[in-house]
Amino acid sequence: MLAPPRLMSSPVASSPSLLPPELQLGEPVTDAMHTEFVRLLDLAHDAPDAALVGALDVWIAHTREHFAQEERWMEALEFGPRHCHAGQHRHALHVAGLVRDEIAQNARFDLGRRLIGELREWFAFHVKTMDSMMIGHMRETGVAPVV
Ligand SMILES: [Fe+2]
Ligand SMILES: [Fe+2]
Repeated sequence: MLAPPRLMSSPVASSPSLLPPELQLGEPVTDAMHTEFVRLLDLAHDAPDAALVGALDVWIAHTREHFAQEERWMEALEFGPRHCHAGQHRHALHVAGLVRDEIAQNARFDLGRRLIGELREWFAFHVKTMDSMMIGHMRETGVAPVV
């Protein structure tokens, strides 16, 4: 689960331009995961109504793994605020799932579009607070994640 310290300042492997500088945390695995979060959310944003549920399902599947990975790291590090952090993950996925079902069952594309906008704002705040603290703790303890 955890490896000896390594440099955490490598460049992001894929599409760094998708992740604004203020959301880059300098940990390559996390930055790559966050780049994909943004890319898949952009795809959902650009999807026509008929493809919106499918695009959100792809984003949800990726985000489940993204969040689960962070939670495994925090658990392994016994990081103090991990339950609060994981609570934010759970809440975001819960709301996204509810809206996804509203689109699928009641064609509430308006809710889907609103969700995407709110997820972008939520993500920026979450990365700058929760994820940033998590990476800071990894740096302080000299431990880097293994995927
Ligand atoms: Fe994250
Ligand atoms: Fe997180």
